[in-house]
Amino acid sequence: MPAQPKNLELARELASRMEAVFGSCACVLQFSKAGWLNSSQNELSECSLAAIAPALNMFDTRSEHPFVWRNSGKLVVAINTCLDALEPVVVGVVIPDQKETLVCSLISAHLEALQCREAEAAGTLQSEFFIDQVTQDFEELTWLRTANEYFDLCGSKHTIESIARKCFPDLASVIRAESILFVRSVEDCKSEEGQPDWTRVIATGIGNNVIESCPRFLADAIPHLACGPRVQNCKNNEAHLVNYPGIRNCVTLAVAKGQHVYGWILAVNRVPSSNASPLMKTEMNAPNPNQFGTIEVGLLSAAANIMSSHARNLELFKAQESLLTGVVRAIINAVDAKDPYTCGHSDRVAQYAKSIAERMGLSVEECECIYMAGLLHDVGKIGVPDSILGKPGPLTNEEYAIVKKHPEIGYAILKHLKQLDSVLPGVLHHHEAVNGKGYPSGLVGEAIPLHGRILAVADAYDAMTSDRPYRPGMPSEKAESILRAESGKTWDSDIVGVLLECLANDEIQPHSSDVPPKSELGEIDPNPNSLMRRIANSINSLVVE
Ligand SMILES: [Fe+2]
Repeated sequence: MPAQPKNLELARELASRMEAVFGSCACVLQFSKAGWLNSSQNELSECSLAAIAPALNMFDTRSEHPFVWRNSGKLVVAINTCLDALEPVVVGVVIPDQKETLVCSLISAHLEALQCREAEAAGTLQSEFFIDQVTQDFEELTWLRTANEYFDLCGSKHTIESIARKCFPDLASVIRAESILFVRSVEDCKSEEGQPDWTRVIATGIGNNVIESCPRFLADAIPHLACGPRVQNCKNNEAHLVNYPGIRNCVTLAVAKGQHVYGWILAVNRVPSSNASPLMKTEMNAPNPNQFGTIEVGLLSAAANIMSSHARNLELFKAQESLLTGVVRAIINAVDAKDPYTCGHSDRVAQYAKSIAERMGLSVEECECIYMAGLLHDVGKIGVPDSILGKPGPLTNEEYAIVKKHPEIGYAILKHLKQLDSVLPGVLHHHEAVNGKGYPSGLVGEAIPLHGRILAVADAYDAMTSDRPYRPGMPSEKAESILRAESGKTWDSDIVGVLLECLANDEIQPHSSDVPPKSELGEIDPNPNSLMRRIANSINSLVVE
């Protein structure tokens, strides 16, 4: 049954009030294309269209005042209840001859009271609407503020999928979507068996039936979509879009930067707010609460922008990582080419130093930094003549003075690479001694940077156990004995103790005469134990994000 127009309801209530006072006397008349129609619910009323038709011919429907007409001892009063001159609704009252001023005053007072009540009700509905609107605005602002925090997640350790998992639940709540999905490509939506690979589909929300249909919907829609958002709403409250059970309305948009598409977002089924009054939504000409509109599309676009920016940053980060890995690889190759006898020394020192750092409980990032410092600690030997580095016998004082410059040369080479700032203290101070007799600065005890003290112990152990042009490598036991003897003099006693613990627990393997093959310095190997993969991992922790 269709809802009654408000002005008709008002007229009927006024008629009812008049009949409560005067008995069965009132009728409600509507004007339409066919002329006046009797809309009274009480067919037994003494008043009828025929009874007041002559009066209506003289009635000015634009008047706010009651129209009075006397006929055959009866008082006929008509009043327009909606003040619409084109489609008036009139309440007519026919009663035995009475004082017209009293009757008119009574009708006017009741009509005014009814209209005041309507206005008050409308005000309440309007307040509810604005409260709902303000609440919605607040939720949107809160989400946008939170969205800033998602940028903090945009480090290299987070994938575009992890951003989606973090971002979508709150977003679904704010735009009141039953589900939000993200896929990288059409292929992720369909396996060969026609079923989606759910490990590659990020889905947030409720309603299994809805989600079941979504990947197929995306697979069908993506090839035909432009990068801009596409909104599809069932206009007449149909149960679902044709061929996609459960989907009543949806927004599809690309996660893209320029022409590069990183994936697709699908938001499904707007859920009406529990606070919203459907009547007021209609009267306030508000957007349909069952459909997605401009605001929801705007918030989804903001999420897509965050995700695409992160995806682009990841690409740039990987390019930067690859470049830096190449630079480090070139440097290590250059050092090894200068001093083939110590080939593999830097790799072993890096590994020993990292094991020591791990046993000391340093953070993962610091352990990776020490590993990188170990790889690069002797880079300054590039500046030492080959004749000195390769000399088979003892060095002269002058030659030794030249060799002692290699920490400072290494520092000077690396200081221009901002991403390697954190390895500089280790490179510069790996030949300091805790008794102050080391070089280049002669620092004492804990004045020597921790990385320098760790590298000094790792460097000394590998130097003693490795072959040199002028002597073969000594057994691990003898090297350990020398370290103990010089503990607290040349080397930090705590760190020597940690190295010995690492050896006792097989966390450090004494060096054999087998030299690592040069091919290990080739392209980045996905094997996590390969040298280049370890370099890449270390760079990953060093690059400022
Ligand atoms: Fe060195």
